[in-house]
Amino acid sequence: MTFQPQPADEPFAEAKQRWQLDLLYTDLGVVKGRGLTRVEKTYLRGLLCGYGPNEIAEQLQVKNDTVRNALSKGLYRYIEGRLSEQQPDLIRVESWGQVARLLGEAGYQRQLGRGKGKVPQRLYLDGLPDAPEFYGREAELAQLSQAIGQDNCRVLLLLGMGGIGKTTLAAHLLRHNQSDFDYVVWQSLAHAPAAEPLFEALLTHLLPETQRPTVNGESSLSQLLRLMKSHRCLIVLEDFQSVLSGGQFVGHYRDGYGAYGEFLRRVGEETHQSCLVLTSWEKPREVAHLEGMGGRVRSHLLQGLPNAAARQILSQYQLTNPEAWDDLIRPYRANPLALKIVATTIRDLFEGSVDEYLNQNTLFLGDFTYLLHQQMARLSELETIIVKHLATVTTPMSLADLKTSIFPKRRQSEWIAALESLHRRSILETRHADQKLLFSLQPVVMKYVTSQLVTEG
Ligand SMILES: Nc1ncnc2c1ncn2[C@@H]1O[C@H](COP(=O)(O)OP(=O)(O)O)[C@@H](O)[C@H]1O
Ligand SMILES: [Mg+2]
Repeated sequence: MTFQPQPADEPFAEAKQRWQLDLLYTDLGVVKGRGLTRVEKTYLRGLLCGYGPNEIAEQLQVKNDTVRNALSKGLYRYIEGRLSEQQPDLIRVESWGQVARLLGEAGYQRQLGRGKGKVPQRLYLDGLPDAPEFYGREAELAQLSQAIGQDNCRVLLLLGMGGIGKTTLAAHLLRHNQSDFDYVVWQSLAHAPAAEPLFEALLTHLLPETQRPTVNGESSLSQLLRLMKSHRCLIVLEDFQSVLSGGQFVGHYRDGYGAYGEFLRRVGEETHQSCLVLTSWEKPREVAHLEGMGGRVRSHLLQGLPNAAARQILSQYQLTNPEAWDDLIRPYRANPLALKIVATTIRDLFEGSVDEYLNQNTLFLGDFTYLLHQQMARLSELETIIVKHLATVTTPMSLADLKTSIFPKRRQSEWIAALESLHRRSILETRHADQKLLFSLQPVVMKYVTSQLVTEG
């Protein structure tokens, strides 16, 4: 074999950061019967960088068909040949999107994690909470780590009402798994940044200018997706509900924010090696549509903390009457933020006496009101009607009850959609009794709505 110097600016040179290129060239050359040509090596690097045949053609200024034919007659067949040496089942390479995954599984990626050959990691962690207290969710952390690690989950939604602990769990998930990823991002959407400028900013933070090969006119969304194909990226987008719109059923985008939906759909559907983690009060449509299909898109609904963890939080507030703490925890459904707020009030106004507070027989919301206010302001008209109705009854209602009392004039599809929407916002509580599904409001929501009704007169 003759020695060929490789110019530093050869196309798709970035591939060598992550792939054992020399080994790949040699192994595929063995299948072919002689060494790969310079052009074949270039196409291979292009695929490994996450480019499709058309994008490779564009960058090299050749015809699309030239690249496509060369791939299907040459490289794909060599790759099949190489894989068949490793495993008995015949694997067909039919599309370019399979290539990086198959070769990754065949062991041609450079070793990730701690150790030699690791790509220098790039982090952009603006606003990541430092090391927030973390009680009672260790099992969830392990299960979700498995989802984004071994299970290659592409989109993981952490869903739940305000204060339940989504940010805290996401922060621990990131810290726990970041060493397995090349690029790690923590980005809040709380102020509803427009999508394309945000993607552009993320790319700028992550990739030095010299490493940003762009196809003419390629959107920053597509560039980000390409990075997610060529490298392992962990991207956490916080408070995703900020780009969803209020006033209609859950999961629609605010005007001008549709590109987030496009991003979610593509991250969920396309083959890549990265993971997008979202925290949100509400489930975006794309997640609802894609979840369940092979587990690549998942949502995890956060419940309140286990009782022992909730007590651990209360124990930091110099409260008395520990035997009554469970009665304090229950109506707040062990929502850690609500517990911190009420515990502060009990400490400051009731000298720490939980009994005295409970004797008032009221559910104190304090600053939690503001959070509920934001969430309730997003309901559609029909959802608001349902919530107000549920706030006036003392027992949970079945579908049949709801239908006769508030829906007789509405079409069935309409109110089923409204109930589903409320459920996705984690405002409704459901339980089964006598083979019927019963709906009620969380006590804090109940309290909030009734006090609003009083204010409205
Ligand atoms: N597992 C936990 N253990 C202890 N405190 C927690 C836990 N989860 C959340 N908290 C606390 O509860 C409050 C709300 O948590 P956060 O993660 O911000 O909720 P969310 O993002 O769902 O609104 C924070 O003060 C946080 O420190
Ligand atoms: Mg949060």
